[in-house]
Amino acid sequence: MPRRPWEVRRSPRHGRGVYATARIPAGTRIIEYTGELIPEVEGERRYPTPPDGSEEPEHTYLLTLDAERVIDANVGGNAARFINHSCEPNCEPIAYGDRMWIVAIRDIRVGEELAYDYAIELDERHTPARKRRFPCRCGARRCRGSILKPKGQLFHPLVRAAIRRWGPGRASG
Ligand SMILES: C[S@@+](CC[C@H](N)C(=O)[O-])C[C@H]1O[C@@H](n2cnc3c(N)ncnc32)[C@H](O)[C@@H]1O
Ligand SMILES: [Zn+2]
Repeated sequence: MPRRPWEVRRSPRHGRGVYATARIPAGTRIIEYTGELIPEVEGERRYPTPPDGSEEPEHTYLLTLDAERVIDANVGGNAARFINHSCEPNCEPIAYGDRMWIVAIRDIRVGEELAYDYAIELDERHTPARKRRFPCRCGARRCRGSILKPKGQLFHPLVRAAIRRWGPGRASG
């Protein structure tokens, strides 16, 4: 496998995406999600959630590392920040100490877009209006229609298996 088995190009899901340029076996640490490590409250201060009724869809480069910290890829971010969401993901962010890697949760074919489940859960209720602010165009057969993860819904079985095998991953589900 080449050192970089991926490239960035435009995605029908949204803006730019990251695509496999070689077969990537399950378990591969594909790319580190780099950026500034900051407290979660600082992330919320930098990128406050727009008020209800706002038309603008959400768009940030923040990844949760653990219960207290997030990685802000607007500062020192690499190509991993362009990885889009899928409701049927082929990778998952896994924490290795204070660093987060995007890991393949199954074999990925050449040309496939890399994607993990953003699994965003708001503190507020996921009303239809709020779901529309986070539309999903992943095209999966079981697409939720929104990047928001229904509260309490389990992660995809492949994600749960990956967290058991290579975790810690994101805590809930
Ligand atoms: C971290 S960016 C991903 C890279 C983005 N495509 C770009 O070009 O900057 C996250 C944003 O991409 C968009 N996005 C990611 N996955 C998506 C999907 N499956 N459907 C629709 N929009 C998506 C959402 O606006 C989301 O907030
Ligand atoms: Zn989807």
